[in-house]
Amino acid sequence: MHETMLYVSKIRNGTVIDHITGGHALDVIKILGITGRENRIITIAMNVPSKRYGVKDIVKIEGRELNPQEVHKIALLAPHATINIIRDYNVVEKIRVKLPSVIENIIKCANPTCISNSKEPVKAKFYVKSEDPLLLKCHYCGQIMEKLDILKQF
Ligand code: CTP
Ligand code: ZN
Repeated sequence: MHETMLYVSKIRNGTVIDHITGGHALDVIKILGITGRENRIITIAMNVPSKRYGVKDIVKIEGRELNPQEVHKIALLAPHATINIIRDYNVVEKIRVKLPSVIENIIKCANPTCISNSKEPVKAKFYVKSEDPLLLKCHYCGQIMEKLDILKQF
């Protein structure tokens, strides 16, 4: 198919999450809590050609914008994603997701005996050791977490 061809139609109002790492569209859907029974138009394209990264996934959601927590979660799985806010068919805002070097509160440590999983008032905290492939290191116990460990939590 030609690069300039549209795989899915444009939306009027809502959010387009573009340049999602190929194969992760359904994880993004899960992060957003979309069940498909919300009475909104959702379009998903998977493994379409991308100039920049070979293949990509796209998720379009009519009539809904994302909160910062959702944007951070998407960044963990799709570090090259762009979030486009659409109003009246125009892209009014384009957010390039970015992983911060320190991640707090978004995910839990996979080590059950980590102090961040105890009753202590300690919030989970990770250092991003590598973005792609994703590698996080727990500030408290040193546990290394990868994409699969994180996917299990969403
Ligand atoms: N889009 C859409 N509905 C609209 C406007 C845009 O579904 N009414 C989609 C486009 O198809 C594209 C994404 O939103 O997937 C971003 O649109 P745009 O910024 O116009 O495209 P590009 O310039 O190709 O974006 P980028 O540089 O981020 O690749
Ligand atoms: Zn830990």
